[in-house]
Amino acid sequence: MIKIFDTTLRDGEQSPGFAMTIEQKVTLAKQLERLRVDVIEAGFPNASPDDFEAVKAIAEMCQQVEICALARCHSNDIQAAIEALQVASKPRIHVFIATSDIHLQHKLKITREQAIERAVAGVSMARAFTPLVDFSPEDATRSDREFLVEILTAVIAAGVDTINIPDTVGYMTPQEYGELIAYLRAHVAGIERVIISTHCHNDLGLAVANSLAGVLQGAKQVECTINGIGERAGNASLEEVVMLLKTRRDLYQVSTQVDTTQLLATSRLLSDITGQDVQANKAIVGRNAFAHGAGIHQHGMVSERSTYEIMRPEDVGCATTQIYLSKHSGRHGLAHRLKALGIVLSPEEMDEGFPQFKALADRKKQVDDSDLMQLFGTG
Ligand code: KIV
Ligand code: ZN
Repeated sequence: MIKIFDTTLRDGEQSPGFAMTIEQKVTLAKQLERLRVDVIEAGFPNASPDDFEAVKAIAEMCQQVEICALARCHSNDIQAAIEALQVASKPRIHVFIATSDIHLQHKLKITREQAIERAVAGVSMARAFTPLVDFSPEDATRSDREFLVEILTAVIAAGVDTINIPDTVGYMTPQEYGELIAYLRAHVAGIERVIISTHCHNDLGLAVANSLAGVLQGAKQVECTINGIGERAGNASLEEVVMLLKTRRDLYQVSTQVDTTQLLATSRLLSDITGQDVQANKAIVGRNAFAHGAGIHQHGMVSERSTYEIMRPEDVGCATTQIYLSKHSGRHGLAHRLKALGIVLSPEEMDEGFPQFKALADRKKQVDDSDLMQLFGTG
């Protein structure tokens, strides 16, 4: 089983244009619970009073799912996380500290030894509150590997149950990311006792591929977001990760507990709340994800849907496959749509009507049902 750790309300919400009110966050969190994700990262309580209240409200309202709060390895951050999570039934704290030399020297201005000390102190404080503690070495993929092994060994000894490996800047290729997970599994003492988690950003468009490369090397949790929202180019898209695992079970041999029939509703809810639509061709949840435009494809689909569909639209909560009628459509597509409207043409009527349909389709981008009723309707 792969755990799905949703960070839409934390990594996703922190990106420009995606801010949400507390009420909106609670609404989305309830839908995420319905979707049956394993963990909801509800926010970063010490970032602002609003974030604190949102995490608290979500912890109150969503009792079936782990609720996670983010904290740097600072006592103030961890204290705020603990307070916000008081009423959570399954509270989780996600502590992080940067580990790459670039971040240590230019951002934190501390040594590697100091980073280990802070990480262990942070984990110990969080661990005293809950056994569910996730540790992230920020910018792990640009960190020195031996140092990564050292810090991860130390936080496992301090009691984390999950180590998360962020590709913070989206720099890795799938092969490299998979190799990193394999290297850590081979070298970090105690790693067999914890869950390895992936957290991949999409700067080079590889977030989903990298996450799944991690899964192939033994990662048991994927951190991801609805519609792939998140810092800069975003995070691994939850709907793509989940449907990839489901559709290619033959390859990955693992499943998730997600109710995939809730995917489209969750994606649309996020778009409605934020006013940010996904592109029409977005995998799984885009307007065109199950729409067929070309005449040849429409002919195939009308005869047997497996010709051009690898997933069933109803499995992601989409009512049906759509056959869009346009200048690219052929007679099969037209006949199929007319039949759905209760209109069956004889071969002669089709011969006569098809050129009129094509002429209209040349003038209009898309021919809709009312156009068809005007052209072919009897009443
Ligand atoms: O991308 C990142 O490194 C993060 C950490 C806070 C886990 O979001
Ligand atoms: Zn991130």
